[in-house]
Amino acid sequence: MLAWTVDHSSPSHLGLREVPDPAPGPHDAVIQVRAFAPNHGDLEALPSLPDGMIPGWDAAGVVVAEALDGTGPRLGQVVASLGTDSAWAERRLATAESVGVAPDGADPHRTSVVPVAATSALRGLRRLGPLLGRRVLVLGGTSAVGLFAVQLAARAGAEVVATTRNPAAHQRLVELGAHEVVASPSDLDGDVSGVLDLLGGTYLVQAFARLAPGGTLVALGHAAGQGEHFAYGDLFGDAARHDRSLTTFFLGAEPDLGPDMAWLAAEIHGGRLDPVVGAVRSWRELPDAFAAGVERTSGKIVLAIE
Ligand SMILES: NC(=O)c1ccc[n+]([C@@H]2O[C@H](COP(=O)([O-])OP(=O)(O)OC[C@H]3O[C@@H](n4cnc5c(N)ncnc54)[C@H](OP(=O)(O)O)[C@@H]3O)[C@@H](O)[C@H]2O)c1
Repeated sequence: MLAWTVDHSSPSHLGLREVPDPAPGPHDAVIQVRAFAPNHGDLEALPSLPDGMIPGWDAAGVVVAEALDGTGPRLGQVVASLGTDSAWAERRLATAESVGVAPDGADPHRTSVVPVAATSALRGLRRLGPLLGRRVLVLGGTSAVGLFAVQLAARAGAEVVATTRNPAAHQRLVELGAHEVVASPSDLDGDVSGVLDLLGGTYLVQAFARLAPGGTLVALGHAAGQGEHFAYGDLFGDAARHDRSLTTFFLGAEPDLGPDMAWLAAEIHGGRLDPVVGAVRSWRELPDAFAAGVERTSGKIVLAIE
């Protein structure tokens, strides 16, 4: 089969080449990958990966061989597939635990954004507890995870505040469900009950200062690329600031993701959740689609395998 493999002799650290088909164990189904949607984190990690490895966390495709032990998805089903490698290839192995089965007729292109971006948003928001009637800040609203978090938090009944540095993105965030859009947490009037943070750095520190008593900040992402420096007093508890918590998150350690991925795929298929696909391109264009200097689209770039 053809696969993108790590190739440090290339400026992109990638080469498209023939590799052996994956060899399924008894618990593995084989998926014909139809699309994958690289995360910026996947691309940033390339220089540190071993030569020859097939990268990529998420993919969507069609089951072409069921697992011999009878578990997992059935022949012909469209699935969202999550793993820590081997997504950027024509075929990928998947266990019952690593896939969400999409409804019949689901579009693999739109399903390919589910595994990392949508599922991280869903699981990160769950850490904030019930959202109905609560004010929630999505720090990094235009990130791939943030675009889902805005929609899901609004669906759950939250009053959503989203951040972006880009004024041109305000309208889109409002259309997706944001009640308010600001450039940074320091622009907020009043407190929030919870924060889903995709940025880190000074944004995290400022957002923590806006947490109401009992509130939680989930440090899910670090797109700002800065350290977090709390000043003396920032972590004090008093009548207005007691019981605030900050927790970290790692999708790879989240249990039982299959049913949530299946639900997200069904919501996208049913038109109730916007996959916010920025562009669909041929998978052969992977390095060009993400090359330095290429203007970023709002939403994920999906790479389709013809
Ligand atoms: N913990 C986990 O399991 C997990 C899972 C998924 C993702 N993540 C992490 O979550 C973060 C978001 O990932 P993603 O793929 O959704 O992100 P993304 O699509 O690359 O978006 C990043 C966003 O951050 C904003 N941004 C970038 N640099 C910034 C800076 N210096 N200051 C302020 N804002 C900045 C940009 O928004 P504007 O230009 O609109 O301001 C951009 O839209 C990443 O750090 C990723 O590694 C973690």
